[in-house]
Amino acid sequence: MASGKLICVTGAGGFIASWLVKHLLQEGYVVRGTLRDPENPKNAHLKELEGAKERLALYKADLMNYDSLCNAFKGCDGVFHVASPLPNELKLVPVAIEGTKNVVNAAADMNVRRIVFTSSYGAVHMDPNRSPDKVLDETCWSDTEFCLKTKNWYCYGKTLAEKSAMAEAKRRGVQLLVVAPPFTLGPTLSQGLHSTGKHLTKYMTVGTKRTVPNAVVGYVDVRDVAQAHELVYKSPKASGRYLCIGYVMNRLELIDLVKERFPHYPFSKRDEHDDTPIVKPYKFSNQRIKDLGLLFTPIKETLSDTVISLQEKGHLPIYTFSKL
Ligand SMILES: NC(=O)c1ccc[n+]([C@@H]2O[C@H](COP(=O)([O-])OP(=O)(O)OC[C@H]3O[C@@H](n4cnc5c(N)ncnc54)[C@H](OP(=O)(O)O)[C@@H]3O)[C@@H](O)[C@H]2O)c1
Repeated sequence: MASGKLICVTGAGGFIASWLVKHLLQEGYVVRGTLRDPENPKNAHLKELEGAKERLALYKADLMNYDSLCNAFKGCDGVFHVASPLPNELKLVPVAIEGTKNVVNAAADMNVRRIVFTSSYGAVHMDPNRSPDKVLDETCWSDTEFCLKTKNWYCYGKTLAEKSAMAEAKRRGVQLLVVAPPFTLGPTLSQGLHSTGKHLTKYMTVGTKRTVPNAVVGYVDVRDVAQAHELVYKSPKASGRYLCIGYVMNRLELIDLVKERFPHYPFSKRDEHDDTPIVKPYKFSNQRIKDLGLLFTPIKETLSDTVISLQEKGHLPIYTFSKL
C-alpha cells in the first residue's frame, strides 16, 4: 500500500490515464487528476471509481498553461505525465514538446520528487537502419530524420517529446522515468471510443471494404500499462526507460486471434493481390519492466476483453451470424 502519497496524473480522463487513476486509487494513493474540462460528461467515469469520493480530486489544467500545472502539482510527491495531444499532425508536435517541458518545469518548481512520463514505442522502433537481428530494447530510438521524411508525425512528436523531457529533467535536477507502451488494447473505463478501439473495430465491421496490412506491431494491455507506471514510480532503483511491450506480431495474426474468439464478424482480410512474404515479428525485450514485477496479460484475454468492452459500450454491434 502507498500510505496515502499524493500524486498527480495529467490528462486523467484518457484511455490509459483512467486505468492508471483506478490502479493508483486501488493501491491507496491520494490522486489529483488534471483535465482540460472537468465538467465534460466524457470524464464522468472518474468520479465513479472505487475510492474516488475519498481520494480523487480533479483539477482544471492545460499542458500549455504552466500556472495551471503548478496549481495541480503543488504538494505532490510524484507526477504521472500521461496527457498528450496525439501528434498525428505536424502542428500538434510543438504542443507535445512544449507541454512536456511545461510539466517538467512545473513539477521541478513545485518540488515534485519523481515524474513518470508516458512515451511510446513510436519513439523507439521507427528506425529503418535497425538490423533485423537487433533486439528492440530501451537503447533503441526512432530516427527523427526518417520520421520527418515519411511524415510520421506521431513517432516524430513522441521521440522529440521524450528527448526534451529527459533533457529538461536533467537540467532541472528532477528524476524522470519513462514508460513506453506500444499499441494499447483492453477495455475502456469511459463511455467514449478511444483511438485503438477505433482501429480494431474498423477491421471487424466493413469486411472486404478494407484490407489488413501485412505489418508487424507491438501490443500491450492497458491494465499492464497502468501497473507498469506505478511499478517504476515506487521502485527506488528504477531509472531511465522501460519498454512495456507484451507481444509483437503481424497484424494479420492478431486479427486471426480475434476471429478465433468472435468468428461472426465481417472481418477484413489481407489484400488478395499482395503476395509479399508475411512480415515476421522482430525480437524485443521487456525484461526491465518484468524485473520490476510486471506480469503481462495473455493477448487472447486482452483481445476478448477489448471486444466485449466495445460491444458493451455500443461501439461494436453484436453479430450472432456471419455477415460475409
Ligand atoms: N493508446 C495507445 O495505443 C498508446 C500507445 C503508446 C503510447 N501512448 C501514449 O499514452 C498517452 C495516453 O494515450 P491515450 O491513448 O490514453 O490517449 P487519450 O485517451 O486520447 O488521452 C490523451 C489525453 O491527453 C489530454 N490532452 C491532450 N492535449 C492536452 C493539452 N493540451 N492539455 C492537457 N491535456 C491534454 C486529453 O485531454 P482532453 O480529454 O481534454 O482532450 C486526453 O485526456 C499519450 O501520451 C500517448 O502518446 C498511447
